Amino acid sequence: MNFNRKILTLDEFTIQQLRHIPHATGELSTLLRDIGLAAKRVNVEVNKAGLVDILGDAGSVNVQGEDVKKLDLFANDQFTGVLQHGVSCAGIASEELDEYVAFDDPISNNSKYVCLFDPLDGSGNIDVNVSIGTIFGVYRRVSPKGQKASKEDFLQKGTQQVAAGYIVYGSSTMLVYATRRGVNGFTLDPSIGEFTLSHPDIKCPPSGKIYSVNHGNFFQYREGVKKYIDVCQKKDKTTGGPYTQRYIGSMVADVHRNLIKGGIFMYPGTIDKPKGKLRLMYECNPFAFITEVAGGKATDGERRILDIQPTELHQRTPMFIGSSDMMAELEAELGREG
Ligand code: AHG
Ligand code: MN
Ligand code: MN
Ligand code: MN
Repeated sequence: MNFNRKILTLDEFTIQQLRHIPHATGELSTLLRDIGLAAKRVNVEVNKAGLVDILGDAGSVNVQGEDVKKLDLFANDQFTGVLQHGVSCAGIASEELDEYVAFDDPISNNSKYVCLFDPLDGSGNIDVNVSIGTIFGVYRRVSPKGQKASKEDFLQKGTQQVAAGYIVYGSSTMLVYATRRGVNGFTLDPSIGEFTLSHPDIKCPPSGKIYSVNHGNFFQYREGVKKYIDVCQKKDKTTGGPYTQRYIGSMVADVHRNLIKGGIFMYPGTIDKPKGKLRLMYECNPFAFITEVAGGKATDGERRILDIQPTELHQRTPMFIGSSDMMAELEAELGREG
């Protein structure tokens, strides 16, 4: 065994990346370190779920109309807190907050970035011990430094993300983040309490055999989606199949698996909810950025997710994301709709 094998921690890795970027100030690595700290705190609570009083409903309904869980609020407070106390973030917006928050203090008003996040993704799975996550997107502010962050900082297109990432609280805890330079995954080493580089330079395989969709809504989907699901179910050895259907109901866990193994994840619009369920700013844009950097694709069925000009913080969009060949097959079916 080679005891001197160098395994980079998240902090070491982000600092090393600075060497490749002229004029880098290190503010992004500081922000990622802050996010890593909040993730560790949330991870500790997630692992105690069932032992302490952290399960169940908080007794309120959020701006999305969803019942809020205690862990949604805990995670929201942790991520908001580290970013507010740090030096890199001028303000945040969150799935759990009605409005964006500009921190408005002398340090924050001079900070370079704003961060939008889904503090706890897959809340419905908390109480039953199934993987959950956190999702975040980081944008360079467009308002002038020296004043508090403004709405236009938070309503930027996904293409403007400087970095995006997610944390999976699963069989192990992982933090994956992307910049334009690449996607890298870090597994939490509980013995030293650090995220350590375990999945360098993640690429989404161009083809895969997994499709992920909520079949319970099948009859509410548009024709092209139904046809594509039919195509998936009829794959055999001669056509690159058979395919496997996997749907956890935590987007983080579903998209993470497909990113590593190859696959497609779909949350289409339905008759009842034409824009689907997923939130553009907190869920779709970060994953679209990560997946594109890794070589995959993400659309709303017509447009590239990252090109959508947001008009509201909490807007929803249909979402199709994954391996490029599978996305091309889906697009062919959508294109054949009458
Ligand atoms: P959140 O817990 O942040 O509100 O998000 C839940 C989302 C997403 O994680 C998942 O893919 C989707 O809801 C599942 O929805 P359905 O149960 O309607 O399939
Ligand atoms: Mn929610
Ligand atoms: Mn979510
Ligand atoms: Mn959430």
